Amino acid sequence: MIVLGIETSCDETGVGVVRLDDAGGVELLANEVASSVDEHARFGGVVPEVASRAHLQAMVPAVHRALGTAGVSGRDVQAVAVTAGPGLTGALLVGVAAAKAYAAAWDVPLYGVNHLAAHVAVDTLQHGPLPPCLALLVSGGHSSLLDVPDIAGPVTPLGATIDDAAGEAFDKVARLLGLPFPGGPHIDRVARDGDPAAIAFPRGLTGPRDAPFDFSFSGLKTAVARHVEALERAGTPVPLADVAASFQEAVVDVLTAKAVRAARERGMETLLLGGGVAANSRLRALAEERCTAAGIRLRVPRPGLCTDNGAMVAALGAHLFAAGAKPSPADLPADSSLPV
Ligand code: KG4
Ligand code: ZN
Repeated sequence: MIVLGIETSCDETGVGVVRLDDAGGVELLANEVASSVDEHARFGGVVPEVASRAHLQAMVPAVHRALGTAGVSGRDVQAVAVTAGPGLTGALLVGVAAAKAYAAAWDVPLYGVNHLAAHVAVDTLQHGPLPPCLALLVSGGHSSLLDVPDIAGPVTPLGATIDDAAGEAFDKVARLLGLPFPGGPHIDRVARDGDPAAIAFPRGLTGPRDAPFDFSFSGLKTAVARHVEALERAGTPVPLADVAASFQEAVVDVLTAKAVRAARERGMETLLLGGGVAANSRLRALAEERCTAAGIRLRVPRPGLCTDNGAMVAALGAHLFAAGAKPSPADLPADSSLPV
């Protein structure tokens, strides 16, 4: 059976097509992503209105391309899945409206899915059936720890950022270091030549009385800004690579420490990374190191599946269908703060 998935929660118009087999396995057939990231670059962040307009323009061509790549036609699609939230309201509305229209036109069930759960489900396209796992989802819009006993069932959120998302911190620090948007990949690259122990930046929310699984990155961003300002005032050149490496280390140290601790406390043998920041080379290396030491298996989808895409939505839709979940009503709303 063929499932089409639509993702428009932020600045990527994603349309994916997957095949669900009789044993419940899902196979990736197409994953078309049109990004409006270049249109946001000069603002240093995603502009919701610009993103919504770009989704409107990209949506129908992306569906055609995805069906073409998958070698199927609209008549072959047996379910449509769409991100119903969380995300930018105007952006979500474009995807939800399109999904409703396709589901009605093809007379197939519609599944409104949670964006965070879809980031977890995508891993099954690369690594097969997912055992119960602890998921660390880190992107420009979210930083969350989730307990996922079964991808088609309820998910327990354990913690999240109380201010900036991890990717947002990367982007803001990159901006103050004069690196282009989105800054995560640039910090990752620049940091390779730096010393991660050069500057002792703060590790947010790691005190004994702090929420064990919440994150905070805005204090870290301010600390980097103060450090750079002090150097500039003194007329000292900013050691870009050392600042980038030390900042990056502060982020990934906290992310991996809390994720591994959560996995151990919840008795989970598998840790899954997802979201755009999961592409970070230091995060992947440190997670691998700490998981090995703790006897935990690490699963990380390839970068193209970590960033926002339609295949992750199609994959979750397929798992929900296979589990006999009730389809969404025809008047499915978009919910910018949809709980997981
Ligand atoms: O998941 P995503 O494509 O979109 C959402 O934000 O939902 O994630 C984009 C974020 C951006 O903040 C970007 O800077 C960050 O992921 N990112 C990285 C890396 N690649 C992308 N951050 C750190 N290191 C990277 N290699
Ligand atoms: Zn995302």
